Amino acid sequence: MEVKELKEKVKQVLQKYQLDESVLVDILHDIQAECGYLPKEVLEETSRGLGVPLSRIYSVATFFKAFSLEPRGRHLIHVCTGTACHVRGTVKVLEKMEQALGIKTGETTSDLKFTLETVNCVGACALGPMVIIGENYHGEMTPETVGPVLENYN
Ligand code: FES
Repeated sequence: MEVKELKEKVKQVLQKYQLDESVLVDILHDIQAECGYLPKEVLEETSRGLGVPLSRIYSVATFFKAFSLEPRGRHLIHVCTGTACHVRGTVKVLEKMEQALGIKTGETTSDLKFTLETVNCVGACALGPMVIIGENYHGEMTPETVGPVLENYN
């Protein structure tokens, strides 16, 4: 997305919230939904638009794990590293995932297809190791099922 386009999206979101800085978290959430992530230009535009110091915008944007200052992939992968999944072999699944994608946990593939993250228990322990891709839950994952599961996403 072009910088001009990003700034336009910010403007639209700020208008929707009537420039009310008390809902900064909601504003950043909506802006991220529109732009995919929160690049520097977007945070600067938000700061200007709201008349709020950039440092305050950054502190909110970096405090919440849901916000990303880096581009994210179209598909967000969460590998569960909770205790039950760990016992059932999640480490090997995560290693295979990193290997298959050619990235480390926390990174995004260069084609912006996948972002790989870990999560601590998603409440489906009996089906571990669990991998969540977008809205889809994949249970009883093994290193062998990583490749076939990833092939379902384009
Ligand atoms: S520990 Fe993975 S779902 Fe509970």
